[in-house]
Amino acid sequence: MDVAGAKRVTVIPTGAALGADVVGVDLLQRLDEATFKAVEAAWHEHLVLRFRGQRLDDPGLLAFARRFGELDKAPVHAGPEVEDPYPEITVMSNIKVGGRPIGNLGHYEAEWHTDMSYNEKCPIGSLLYALEVPLEGGDTGFSNMYAALETLPAELKRAIIGKQCKHDSSRNSAGELRKGFQDVTDPREAPGAVHPIIRTHPATRRNALFLGRRRNAYIVGLPLKESEDLLNKLWAHASNPGFAWYQKWKVGDLVMWDNRCTMHRRDAFDPAARRLMHRTQIKGDKPYFDPASVAA
Ligand code: OGA
Ligand code: MN
Repeated sequence: MDVAGAKRVTVIPTGAALGADVVGVDLLQRLDEATFKAVEAAWHEHLVLRFRGQRLDDPGLLAFARRFGELDKAPVHAGPEVEDPYPEITVMSNIKVGGRPIGNLGHYEAEWHTDMSYNEKCPIGSLLYALEVPLEGGDTGFSNMYAALETLPAELKRAIIGKQCKHDSSRNSAGELRKGFQDVTDPREAPGAVHPIIRTHPATRRNALFLGRRRNAYIVGLPLKESEDLLNKLWAHASNPGFAWYQKWKVGDLVMWDNRCTMHRRDAFDPAARRLMHRTQIKGDKPYFDPASVAA
C-alpha cells in the first residue's frame, strides 16, 4: 500500500485470517503523519501487525506506542522496591534472577484470551517486542474475532444477540489465581466486568465476537447449565484454527495486536530457555454494542 506523501510503507498480509508484515520502516525514527496513518489503517485492516528487524529500546517502543493513544501503567507486581524509569513497560519473561522471576507469564502455555477484559475499560491493543527468544516454542497465536462472528451458525448468533458475558478476574491467562482472589466455584459469583458478547469496534464500526477467556465465564441471565453449553459451543467455534495465525518470534520483532477484535494465546516452551519481551499497552474504553454498526 502506498499513501500519498507517506514514506514507502509496504504491507504484506500473512495470507492467514489476520496479520500482516509492515516492511520498510525503522520504528526508532519518528514516522511522519501520513506514514503513521498508513500504519494505523493497515492495523485496522489486518488486526495484527509485525515489524521485523527492529532495534528498539524502551523509549523508542514507548514513543511509537504513544502515537496510538495513552498507555496503561504496568500492573504492579511484588518485587524489590526499585525505581522504575518506564512504568508503562511490562516485562514478559520466564527468566529468574536470584530465584525471582523478572517478568510475567513464565514458560507455560497461555490459553486463548483477550487482555484485561475483566476490567470495565479494556485496552485497545498491545505492542510486544522480542529481546530474547527460545529456539523453539513460545509461539504466539492470534485469532480473528470478526471472522468468528461472521461465520457463527445462525442459531448461535440468535442465542447471543443482546446478551452480556461476565469476564472473570480471578485468574491470569496462565490459569494462576491472582493475588488476593478467592478460587471461583460458581461462575455466576465470579468477580469481574460484564460486557456485550458482540462488540462494535469504534474505529472500523465492525462487530466482533467478544469472549475474553473461557474459565469461569458466565452469560448473564441464563441458568448456569445453559450458559456453560452456549459458551462451550461459542468457544468450539472461535477456536477453529482457520481464524488463527501464529507468530514465530525472532529477536527484533515487534508485534502489535488489536485487543478489540482478536484473541491470542501462547505455546509453552522449555523452561531452561530464555524468553524476554517488553510490552506496552494502549488504554481503552468500555466495550459496547452499537445497533447502528456494520451488521455481521
Ligand atoms: C500478553 C501475552 C503472550 C506472549 O502479553 O498479553 O499474552 O507471547 N503474551 O508473551
Ligand atoms: Mn495476553
